[in-house]
Amino acid sequence: MSQEPPVIQSLLLYCRPGFEKECATEIQDQTQKLEVSGFSKANPNAGYVLFTPYETGDMPLLMKQLRFADLCFARQMVAVLPLLSKLSVEDRISPVLEAASALSRQFFDTWLETADTNDAKELSVFLRKFQGPLARAMAEAGMVSAKPGAPRLHLFFLNSTTVYAGLSRPGNASPWPMGIVRLKFPRSAPSRSTLKLEEAFLFFLGDEPKILQPGMKAVDLGAAPGGWTWQLVKRSIRVIAVDNGPMDKELMDSGIVEHLRVDGFRYLPPRPVDWLVCDMVDQPSRIAALVVRWMAGGHCRHAMFNLKLPMKKRHEEIKRCRAIIEEALDNAGVPFRLSFKQLYHDREEVTGYLARL
Ligand SMILES: C[S@@+](CC[C@H](N)C(=O)[O-])C[C@H]1O[C@@H](n2cnc3c(N)ncnc32)[C@H](O)[C@@H]1O
Repeated sequence: MSQEPPVIQSLLLYCRPGFEKECATEIQDQTQKLEVSGFSKANPNAGYVLFTPYETGDMPLLMKQLRFADLCFARQMVAVLPLLSKLSVEDRISPVLEAASALSRQFFDTWLETADTNDAKELSVFLRKFQGPLARAMAEAGMVSAKPGAPRLHLFFLNSTTVYAGLSRPGNASPWPMGIVRLKFPRSAPSRSTLKLEEAFLFFLGDEPKILQPGMKAVDLGAAPGGWTWQLVKRSIRVIAVDNGPMDKELMDSGIVEHLRVDGFRYLPPRPVDWLVCDMVDQPSRIAALVVRWMAGGHCRHAMFNLKLPMKKRHEEIKRCRAIIEEALDNAGVPFRLSFKQLYHDREEVTGYLARL
């Protein structure tokens, strides 16, 4: 008797190890909004969360309506089949191909992934060896598509014989394997923080580079020593850098940075600027209120800001900040777009992007 093919049963969310609880609470919140109930499996420091709706029939709705962009703590979102375990070391390819064919006829790409944990990273040698033979087998089976709209196959290995097979759709998932963008630290940048803003630009503006143009004007609050300012200067954007601390000399030599030693919570520019960026370490709700003041007052069109999270209730804190911003801008009649993401280069913090529409 032939067996029924497996069906997509859960959502697999990759996250920063240590943030499983936040990721799980958030997915519960978001699925509730779609009137879907289910349960989350979230082991501490596992680097992923599995959300399974009580009704498998709800999965198509989730896959259609749940927006990856609305999940702050998830680095990647994949719709997966039940776990494949005890793969034979003699032939892992056949069961993986069988699972893949239950997901879709063809795939644009195949990513072999693990959680972002030290244990899982030990699988990288195995994954490199497996990649070639699997790619050949997929091609021979006619499962590779050149169409960029085709789904991506994810094989998320828990160990070398246990794997979740799933798919994601470009446009509603992270564009990077493991949800991690690999950036090289630019040697002339004055601080490693520079990578946070570079990733934020890539993540939030990926397909809208026109929002960052030479000749634009920006204010950087909490700018010293200048990692974020460096990203703006690199794009030939003029910067007012606000901080009591010293700015990197080479950056000041660019001639397009003005350094003001004033309080970032009080400063407002004499004329509106294109960008506000803010990396001051303070209470998230204070930063949220600051961003509102700038946006509602018409002082900037775009804002990229970092919220340093408290030890506990981190998901609640983001919800609170989102509510502060949304309520105030709605009341002020300002049309806007707001997103939060815990980026790869964010630690105990998340990045927000707010744009006036
Ligand atoms: C995390 S560091 C910023 C690093 C910077 N983004 C970079 O890439 O080099 C935070 C900065 O915020 C500044 N800061 C904190 N409170 C401030 C305030 N009220 N006004 C201006 N700067 C402030 C601190 O002096 C510190 O330099």
